[in-house]
Amino acid sequence: MTAPDTSPPNPAPWHSLPHAPAPGTLLGQRDALQDGQVLLQQVFAADDKAQQNPFRILLLRSGEELKAYANRCAHFGVPLAAKQAQMQFVPHVSLSCNVHYARYRWSDGVCDRGDCVGEALIPIPLHIDALGAIRIAPAP
Ligand code: FES
Repeated sequence: MTAPDTSPPNPAPWHSLPHAPAPGTLLGQRDALQDGQVLLQQVFAADDKAQQNPFRILLLRSGEELKAYANRCAHFGVPLAAKQAQMQFVPHVSLSCNVHYARYRWSDGVCDRGDCVGEALIPIPLHIDALGAIRIAPAP
């Protein structure tokens, strides 16, 4: 008998999403993000001069750990929340979509309750420099 596979799923990479910005894009400053906070950010691809197609990102801080997910529900591909005030989350534990209330684990973005159980938010790798600037990391 084999143990169930509990590893996170392998969603499409962030850079394959529409309007994905370039690696190195500035997302914010570490000190602007409080411990246990989820911050909605949007950035624009370099060729989107009119800034009409935002790429939406969720920035999470837990202690000294920062992580980012595309703000894109695995259920219908819409933002979990369109405005900061609408963002539903339990600090360090989970975040939820405010459309049909799918819940995602903070730690790895896997959906553990709702219509997309077993799917996951798309992670975005980060690089934080010595001055605390948060950028999208270059591809490995
Ligand atoms: S669109 Fe997010 S749970 Fe349905």
